[in-house]
Amino acid sequence: MKLTKEDIDKVRHIEGFPIAKDEDIIALSNPPYYTACPNPFIEDFIKEHGKPYDEATDDYHREPFAADVSEGKTDPIYMAHAYHTKVPYKAIMRYILHYTNPGDVIFDGFCGSGMTGVAAQACENPETEFKHIIESEMKDVKWGTRKTILNDLSPAATFISYNYNTSVDIAQFENDVKKILSACEKECSWMFETNHIEDPSSTQLQLPSSYQKGRINYTVWSDVFICPHCGAEIVFWDAAVNKKTGSISELFTCSTCGVQIKKKDCERAIKAYYDDALDKIVHTTKQVPVLINYSIGRKKYNKIPDVADKERIEKIETLKIPYWFPIDPMMHKGEKWGDSWRAGYHFGITNVHHFFMKRNNYVLACFYHYCLQYNPKLITLLISSTQGLSKQQRFRLNSGFPNMILSGTLYIGSLQREWNAIEWLKGKIPSILAAKKKCTFFSTDNYIVTTQSLTDMRNINSDSVDYIFTDPPFGDNLMYSELSFIWEAWLKVTTNNKSEAIINNVQGKGLLDYQELMTKCFSECFRILKPNRWMTIVFHNSKNAVWNAIQESLQRAGFIVADVRTLDKHQESFKQVNNTSAVKQDLVISAYKPKESFKREFISHAGSEETAWSFVRQHLEKLPVVVVKNGKIELIAERQAFLLYDRMVAYHIMNGIAVPLDATDFYKGLDERFLKRDGMYFLADQVNEYDTARIINDVEPIQFELFVTNEKSAIAWLYQQLEKPQTYAELQPKFMQEIKAWDKFEERPELAVLLEENFLQDDNGRWYIPDITKASDVAKLREKKLLKEFEGYLATKGKLKLFRTEAIRVGFAKLWADKNYKLIVETAERLPESVIQEDDKLLMYYDISLGRI
Ligand SMILES: C[S@@+](CC[C@H](N)C(=O)[O-])C[C@H]1O[C@@H](n2cnc3c(N)ncnc32)[C@H](O)[C@@H]1O
Repeated sequence: MKLTKEDIDKVRHIEGFPIAKDEDIIALSNPPYYTACPNPFIEDFIKEHGKPYDEATDDYHREPFAADVSEGKTDPIYMAHAYHTKVPYKAIMRYILHYTNPGDVIFDGFCGSGMTGVAAQACENPETEFKHIIESEMKDVKWGTRKTILNDLSPAATFISYNYNTSVDIAQFENDVKKILSACEKECSWMFETNHIEDPSSTQLQLPSSYQKGRINYTVWSDVFICPHCGAEIVFWDAAVNKKTGSISELFTCSTCGVQIKKKDCERAIKAYYDDALDKIVHTTKQVPVLINYSIGRKKYNKIPDVADKERIEKIETLKIPYWFPIDPMMHKGEKWGDSWRAGYHFGITNVHHFFMKRNNYVLACFYHYCLQYNPKLITLLISSTQGLSKQQRFRLNSGFPNMILSGTLYIGSLQREWNAIEWLKGKIPSILAAKKKCTFFSTDNYIVTTQSLTDMRNINSDSVDYIFTDPPFGDNLMYSELSFIWEAWLKVTTNNKSEAIINNVQGKGLLDYQELMTKCFSECFRILKPNRWMTIVFHNSKNAVWNAIQESLQRAGFIVADVRTLDKHQESFKQVNNTSAVKQDLVISAYKPKESFKREFISHAGSEETAWSFVRQHLEKLPVVVVKNGKIELIAERQAFLLYDRMVAYHIMNGIAVPLDATDFYKGLDERFLKRDGMYFLADQVNEYDTARIINDVEPIQFELFVTNEKSAIAWLYQQLEKPQTYAELQPKFMQEIKAWDKFEERPELAVLLEENFLQDDNGRWYIPDITKASDVAKLREKKLLKEFEGYLATKGKLKLFRTEAIRVGFAKLWADKNYKLIVETAERLPESVIQEDDKLLMYYDISLGRI
């Protein structure tokens, strides 16, 4: 099957259509399985493999699930091809086995290297040992392949995904790669020759004298700086590197004037050269070769480059490469291409080929040329090698690591290791073969790959996928389109980053733009997911503001979050996360799309109390009933009154419906309508299961860890503590321990005030949790006090510097009920930006009110 221009015309208007000529998209694609543009054949794939959704007969039920997302990082498949971040496929397999049945259709809209597809296919034929582990951990495991739709905005990502998910004919692969490499060797091996030195037994640096030939393994290049005192050139390697220990001194001496200096005090030496590919003189930073490591037979030697070596390098520099290689200006811009651009080490690096030494660029171009001749599929080997063969490869004397790329950046160090490109490509083969040998049962029938923005998946019908597993970009952490540009230039198809969901200064995208884009992405996930089905989002949380943006986007898209967990690396177990706590680790978020009947009911009773209770019913139905770990029952955070209230409020606000109940009435209603055990609420048909488990595991349920950083979490902590009544004196030292990491702008109420406002005291001076009849009075009183405090803020002018966020929350809820959106926005804008961004409730009120005015 061939992708035609007519096929492309059908999808050209879809967001994220890549930047490329049609013929290059056609050349790269392998339709219908993979297209380097939006895939016009997805509907056929779903028709063939999917099962239409019918709520009347749908009996799907699963509880939220969390497993280690970093498991399996040493697996040959995982290691075969680098990507900027990867979730190991073995980790994803557990999710797939939990949520889906064989044959189900899975979607990953930020697929990166396509690990979700690999995981789905690996369910067909798991390794024996892994199979036993899974079967000992999970009940009723149903092995068998699932079908996957893989999407990414980046053509490099979808190209890697396609290759990862496709099996190869091993014999043909070996044969073709041999032919290609021997053709390259014939043309280029002379470039990696060097004259042998006199004393081969010595590993010390020596001056060359004899003429036996060695094969260069690598050449080390050093930056050259200018001494700020005398203007002489300083070769960084000579001045700063201790040749015995390999250490690099921060302070080094100029050999001309003897002054001690630091790298940051020096300017870089600049060289000008004629760039024949661009047909112009280019000015760039100067590097000189300082060390050659070479082999004769199995023995390795080091030498200082001699005259012949330098002449050979000069000769290569003046050669015209007779094959095609990419010379695109970086990010189609050239100068200052993006957020990963740096003024110092990127000086003069404006085009893709400037990231390579001429010699390795030559080999890569030659390799590409013979791939086209013998087997274009092997371009994947080139793509997996470009980074390692670029100037990004750093060097440290005595380091055992062959690959020292600073991942997630385009950093170029002051010492660069130029590997022998032919040997590097050869060296990649065993690892690729090891991976491919494990995937011989993979079939093109199992997946389809598309290249477009998740903000626009119009080529997939609504309610058609059974499960979504995804690992979204997180804020400003990685600049995917910049990092992938070199790969994509080789593929001749580059990312259209207009809707790339990242925070990026050069692209003019801040946190709110990121949130907006993520909302659009999740809205599409919501649309194509069948109702009553799950989406798992794994997410590396480095900033609370980004985590809040993700939560906000999920809710705005219509998803209901049912569980958030973080991996405790020390105990290798999952901790539940109580809303927005200060966790800066991997998070696993389980969110579901509510049933149609619930949505209908919700809309028809909009604003009545009944909407609140039908929400709670639907939510409780989705939550785990019992979680037993090591013979102990875990409390389920989502089943607690305050989280149920938060979720109910958020759902109403997100759907633009007035919140029908205040907290006190809500808590009262909860007690009347649902069954309470250990501070958690259950549906009538769930409670037996919990009670039985409680009898079997006859110990108090374990509390989850709380991170106390503000008034709200401090109150939640006190609720945990006061399960057993305590005096002020008992509580106070523990409280002081907990509150060490207090939020910057948050006014810190005294423990005594928190106790008085939220709890009651018995005759012995012990504080306790008020029972339900008194709780509503306490809550009302507290709300009144907080509202008064909020009114105090309104009466002032200018920025608010220290305040009680709880008071602001209560105030915003009141303004929301009064439909005073303008005052919400005005007050929000008086708060420090970070407070709004880092508090999910305030962000929600602000964001929605902004839309309203
Ligand atoms: C964290 S990575 C996914 C890595 C993947 N889980 C893996 O194992 O390789 C996030 C991906 O989102 C992609 N991305 C960013 N904005 C996008 C958008 N609007 N639509 C689709 N993909 C996007 C990036 O290109 C990147 O590959």
